[in-house]
Amino acid sequence: MRKRLLAGNWKMHKTNAELDDYFQTFVMEAGYQTREVAESVDVVFAVPYTLIEKAVALTARHHIAIAAQNVHQKNAGAFTGEVSIPMLKESRAAAVLVGHSERRQHYGETDAAVAEKTRALLDAGMAPIVCVGETLDEREADQTNAVLRKQMNAVLSVLDAPGDMIVAYEPVWAIGTGLTATPEQAQDAHAQIRGLVGARLGEQAASKIRILYGGSAKPDNIGELLAQPDIDGGLVGGASLDPVGFAAMVRTSARFD
Ligand code: PGA
Repeated sequence: MRKRLLAGNWKMHKTNAELDDYFQTFVMEAGYQTREVAESVDVVFAVPYTLIEKAVALTARHHIAIAAQNVHQKNAGAFTGEVSIPMLKESRAAAVLVGHSERRQHYGETDAAVAEKTRALLDAGMAPIVCVGETLDEREADQTNAVLRKQMNAVLSVLDAPGDMIVAYEPVWAIGTGLTATPEQAQDAHAQIRGLVGARLGEQAASKIRILYGGSAKPDNIGELLAQPDIDGGLVGGASLDPVGFAAMVRTSARFD
């Protein structure tokens, strides 16, 4: 049985001054007073680098994990403006988003770089949350399967085992647009991704890996998405900025176990 995982992606939002209020409200609304929530759903917040340490300090006792939104694949070097895996480990980040579509689109992140980052994170004992997904043009041209195959196989070809890798299926046309993939569209993509993992890394790896849906996920639609057999959680952008709404999504996720 795969444990559900709900990840918030704050993107370039919030400052340290906002964290106390946010987490106080979130922890109370999600019901972390009892142990049941943490036992039935894993929660991760992918926050800007400058917020990691304080976010860890405020959440660790509830078993809430903090992630970065990107990382460089090399451990050190002349890479102005970049942040390395050892730096993130020192800040006690537990996971990293890799290959988010905004990084692929706006910063030229390639499949090869995504693969290198994933491999480096797994080697360092951190959990990569690898993001894949097609654009609207690609979906309309019937290229969804081909795009997912290309993006997934680039990563899978450099791995012997999935380790703690998590995959997030995020159709680019659904991110921040208010358009959500239907549960059936999302399920089809998730089943394909699980099949690709199985073909490269074996059935056991495929049955264990968690695949999250992302793209305008919100309190109203998370339940029907999670009801699909291959959807193991969500990667939530806009709706994770509101602690009350995101806590409601956590409670919905916990109820399905
Ligand atoms: P959204 O973003 O929930 O605001 O659509 C999801 C994401 O980009 O991870």
